Amino acid sequence: MHIESLEQKWITLSLAAIGLLVAIITLDAFFHGINPPSKVETIDSARLHLSEEFAEDKLGVSVNEKGDVIVRMVAGRYSFFPKHIEVPAETKITFRWVSMDVLHGVHIPMTNMSTMIVPGYVAEITTTFPKPGDYPLLCNEYCGLGHNHMWSNIAVIA
Ligand code: CUA
Repeated sequence: MHIESLEQKWITLSLAAIGLLVAIITLDAFFHGINPPSKVETIDSARLHLSEEFAEDKLGVSVNEKGDVIVRMVAGRYSFFPKHIEVPAETKITFRWVSMDVLHGVHIPMTNMSTMIVPGYVAEITTTFPKPGDYPLLCNEYCGLGHNHMWSNIAVIA
């Protein structure tokens, strides 16, 4: 079989490109592991109560040394803990969620906030509430019989 030299060059070039892509994907997966796309921060879901950050008395609203408002919440069948929080309006707020058991989701209607809470990983979203009011925080991943009742409440104050 005769192959034109120009054709041969293109064949070699495209095979090299495919090889390079496969190598990049393989190396990336090898070095970074397989993770949820949003966040690559891991945590031991079975030992949250013993963790520095998500121990019971650390949950809820806090302000760090830089003045950022951080909200830490644990999702578990069938509630978010704490059940009720208050945050200021027109302020950048960073939410950090972890699951203590299975896959949950969190969704705040009327906002752009929605993320999965995968056991073993920290889910983080930063947002601002423009208007004061009461916002429900709902689970949007089926997590068992009590899924429909899994919610919490955020009071945004002026
Ligand atoms: Cu938690 Cu559905």
